[in-house]
Amino acid sequence: MMQIHQAEFLLSNTDYQKCPTPDKPEYAFIGRSNVGKSSLLNALCNKKVAHTSQQPGKTRYINHYLINQHWYLVDLPGYGWARASKTDRKEWETMIKDYLTQRPNLLCVFLLVDIRHEPQKIDLEFMEWLAEAGVPFVMIFTKADKIAKTKTKYKASQYQQKMKEQWEELPQYFITSSENKVGMDSLLEFIEQINLNFEQKSEN
Ligand code: GTP
Ligand code: MG
Repeated sequence: MMQIHQAEFLLSNTDYQKCPTPDKPEYAFIGRSNVGKSSLLNALCNKKVAHTSQQPGKTRYINHYLINQHWYLVDLPGYGWARASKTDRKEWETMIKDYLTQRPNLLCVFLLVDIRHEPQKIDLEFMEWLAEAGVPFVMIFTKADKIAKTKTKYKASQYQQKMKEQWEELPQYFITSSENKVGMDSLLEFIEQINLNFEQKSEN
């Protein structure tokens, strides 16, 4: 079972072309502002490498972290931030959508949604955009500690039930809590598997 024993902040920028050399497997966190992207990165790494805040709009750029010298985790700024100006939103959209579609080593995107909420239009639309753009993604339900443990699976399946109205194939999902470290092992296992496939492909 893979453990993260090294996590190091590399760089922060607004341009996918200035990101680190795309020679390692890469995974990025996206979702509504305040959903817990930076917190999940810290929880996975067992280390406070990313800045978090109670206020939405904390993460502003594309932030690369080198994990175990071998792969990248990327913390992105969230969408749906009410106080963002129209210009901010346009800039966000260009920066994020260019990054997500142009980064050649981005193997999977983690789309985070708060487990407490009903499916929101903004998230469903973003997932549709990902699917249409051909960006591979899985869903991560966050803040599972905020509802009764017995309800987490029900909530997640309810969400997927709703997606079924539009989607032929539902994305894989994980239930997590950065507070209680729920779901970290499953997520690491998932990443490890993709890393292994990536290595085998590069060897052939
Ligand atoms: P932006 O950078 O603004 O896009 O937000 P973000 O998605 O990175 O959210 P962030 O990780 O900064 O967390 C937002 C707030 O939610 C913080 O107050 C966190 O402490 C809280 N939070 C994040 N994850 C969890 C969790 O699993 N459980 C609980 N109870 N709180 C959480
Ligand atoms: Mg953040």
